[in-house]
Amino acid sequence: MSRIVYVNGAYVPEEEANVSVFDRGFLFADGVYEVTSVLDGRLVDFDGHAARLARSLGELEMESPASRDELLEIHREIVSRNQVKDGLVYLQVTRGAAADRDFAYPDPEEVSPTIVVFTQSKPGLADAPQSKVGIKVISVPDLRWKRRDIKTVQLLYPSMGKMLAKKDGCDDAWMIEDGLVTEGTSNNAYIVKDGVIVTRNLSNDILHGITRAAVLRFAKEAQMQVQERPFTIEEAQAADEAFITSASTFVMPVVEIDGLELGGGKPGPVATRLREIYLDESRKNTV
Ligand code: PDD
Repeated sequence: MSRIVYVNGAYVPEEEANVSVFDRGFLFADGVYEVTSVLDGRLVDFDGHAARLARSLGELEMESPASRDELLEIHREIVSRNQVKDGLVYLQVTRGAAADRDFAYPDPEEVSPTIVVFTQSKPGLADAPQSKVGIKVISVPDLRWKRRDIKTVQLLYPSMGKMLAKKDGCDDAWMIEDGLVTEGTSNNAYIVKDGVIVTRNLSNDILHGITRAAVLRFAKEAQMQVQERPFTIEEAQAADEAFITSASTFVMPVVEIDGLELGGGKPGPVATRLREIYLDESRKNTV
């Protein structure tokens, strides 16, 4: 059975879901996106994702194609039509299709944004086998642009990072700028030393993860110590444990960094506990 996809106001079978070849998302990566996880058919942290989408659009002077309530309705409808129990909702908004290829933004009165929403079913997402064994990361230089706080669809460099990791028999790459870890290719990065959780402070250097915000809040509520500051890859390799967070992985332990094992190559207690807390608490607030 093919998926039902939402495109510019219509729910259509994926084979019939099309956007223009002149779409600025296609020609200029002039678009933003959000990934919201689905557990038991309900949306995790929807309001966080909707708020970040609005911010990304605002930073790019792009019109929002739908209100928060309309977006929620679309998300719920697409989950229901595709009978997604566990998985993801992917949403992309671009500046639309102008008449010609032109670097200058088109007049928003004449060109309306493109909106596409689709689902990816991932049965057993909360019990992903990787979460029991952890992932291995390599480090790569961070060669992305300087506005990583905007969730744009310019994902070529993160894809390259993931491919470099794969070629090394690893799962992901942590990116390094000025000797300091910024984040993972599609996740925020953390280390734990002597019980203190360390993750890079928010700025334009990293994406302001919705999972990050929730996990740090839960960690503080559980009386865990948190330091928001940059760290080096050497500090990470000398840490007791490490992990990543994102809407698609929740809290995922990291057990190897650039070939060096952490915590005997097994997921650490802090990451394991935070994953449990995150899943328990998030399930209580799904919509
Ligand atoms: N990625 N940093 C980057 C560069 C990301 O692409 C993501 C999310 C995150 C984590 O943000 P959040 O907790 O809001 O998912 C951090 C999504 C999942 C993706 O591209 O698939």
